Amino acid sequence: MESKRIAAEKAVELVKDGMKIGLGTGSTAYWAIQAIGRLVKEQGLGIQAVATSVQSEQLAKEWGIPMMPFAEVDMLDLTIDGADEVDAELNLIKGGGGALLREKIVAAASKQLIIIVDESKDVQQLGKFPLPVEIVPFAYELTVKKLQQLGCELKLRHNGEELFVTDNGNYIADCEFGDIKDPAALHDDLNRIPGVVDNGLFIDMASLVIIGSADGEIRSK
Ligand code: 5RP
Repeated sequence: MESKRIAAEKAVELVKDGMKIGLGTGSTAYWAIQAIGRLVKEQGLGIQAVATSVQSEQLAKEWGIPMMPFAEVDMLDLTIDGADEVDAELNLIKGGGGALLREKIVAAASKQLIIIVDESKDVQQLGKFPLPVEIVPFAYELTVKKLQQLGCELKLRHNGEELFVTDNGNYIADCEFGDIKDPAALHDDLNRIPGVVDNGLFIDMASLVIIGSADGEIRSK
């Protein structure tokens, strides 16, 4: 937890007065939202934000962070978000919290995507973490078969007995491919399947990755 917090607080040093900010989702982004909230509350930092999930939007509102409607977003100055894995080329697996679609939309509308992780997420090759794929409920059984034909072990994500439903009303298929040798090719193969909304591979999107470690050290790549 400490490693996530220090990475998040380092990233928040990049937030400046007047910026438009994207707020990520998850336990690391939680610390960033808190730190931004403190700057707003205690130092009167003037920013406007959009959130990548209902959960993060609620948290941001609790901290008094001014939220802007998406209709007013042209380009965000930066987005701070977590990740499940980061490779040497700064490609990512995201979606462990089920927010990958909104996260990707917001990231794509940001001049800079700052990723905050603890060192367990820093890997040579993506693929240990099962890749989350967001699929529409209509005929999802067919979509699951198509995904399996790409060679993965697939589990539909559950919330207790029920299927997990994203903020967009879709399901998540967690797909274990093993080592992902060509993330860009897999990204495109997945998104070509009708019924797939998007997948958790973020290729060439991250500008900077800030990695916190348990001994209090911070490095970036
Ligand atoms: C949510 C995400 C999160 O950023 C990712 O799962 C990392 O989460 P955490 O910071 O809790 O480890 O992609 O969809």
